Amino acid sequence: MSCYRSIIKSVGGYLPEKKMTNADLAKLVDTSDSWITERTGIKERHIAAEGEKTSDLALHAARQAIERAGIVPTDIDLIILATSTPDQTFPATAVTIQAELGIVEGAAFDLQAVCSGFVFAVTTADQYIRSGQAKRVLVIGAETFSRILDWEDRTTCVLFGDGAGALVLEAEERDERPDIGIMASRLRSDGRYRDKLYVDGGPSSTQTTGFLRMHGREVFRHAVTNISDVIEETLEASNFSVSDIDWFVPHQANERILAGTAKKIGLPMEKIIMTVAAHGNTSAASIPLALNYGVETGKIKKGDLVLLEAMGGGFTWGAVLLRW
Ligand code: UT7
Repeated sequence: MSCYRSIIKSVGGYLPEKKMTNADLAKLVDTSDSWITERTGIKERHIAAEGEKTSDLALHAARQAIERAGIVPTDIDLIILATSTPDQTFPATAVTIQAELGIVEGAAFDLQAVCSGFVFAVTTADQYIRSGQAKRVLVIGAETFSRILDWEDRTTCVLFGDGAGALVLEAEERDERPDIGIMASRLRSDGRYRDKLYVDGGPSSTQTTGFLRMHGREVFRHAVTNISDVIEETLEASNFSVSDIDWFVPHQANERILAGTAKKIGLPMEKIIMTVAAHGNTSAASIPLALNYGVETGKIKKGDLVLLEAMGGGFTWGAVLLRW
């Protein structure tokens, strides 16, 4: 019996021009390059220019991915944008991207799972393709977290950056269980921890946008265990093991979390695509940006087995195993 599989056609990425180093931050708050580097591995991050919106970043990444896929925008029948920093409360920023790309058919929507947003969006796109409801999906992770940071709070403002990344997925009809494209994914949420990482505003509560607040140590405490568990479930579902993985492309929150996860699952550090030093934590954009970096630097090649994972506010967490 034949079935549809989601093939990865291309990736694109975009980082705003302006860079902010740890030294720049030390002029704003009581921090230092050595504290930020030791605790997080971050050296610099990109910050959107005044007036530059999440949709602007997303469009750069999307256009690059579309061109690299060798298709035109109107070939796309579904756009899923993972973001927690939309241009407006509504409409979905995805429809702005759709209109700017000149697409008038199919559907476009935003998906909100904070730093796990891209993993949730890829999994959702895969379900649309597997069920035969979509042929070509543009999956984007784009954020302007600089807009929701409290620039006087040193415990959070040093951690995040802006950026966007995009993937084009295409349906391919194949024999049952072929070893191609997206092979398995697992998503998890546990709302009991929703007050550990949140924004203290919103349309129905304060009628303001609010600022990001985080109990960093609490998030850290759960991260490695949650991530390792969901990776194990994903590998089990696909009959692969850690030793089969060519590249581990995790959400880039903190170098120590990535190293801790790699150690726990028994994966060598050389197999991690690491961009946290140059990008900071770009939330839903961090995985597609890391994929873009991996492909552009010639590390990730066609046929490689790639494991994505993320954990973020909610808590939400998840993993995706795919053949590039
Ligand atoms: O992407 C979503 C998921 N988010 C994450 O995965 C983030 C998870 N958490 C983390 O990565 C870490 O918890 C942080 C990097 C946020 C913090 O590292 P930590 O080792 O957990 O530090 P801490 O919060 O325990 O703070 C240690 C000390 C405190 O001082 P005292 O109380 O020991 O005197 C903080 O006030 O470091 C102080 N501190 C700072 N010092 C200089 C906190 N932020 C800063 C700063 N510069 N920017």
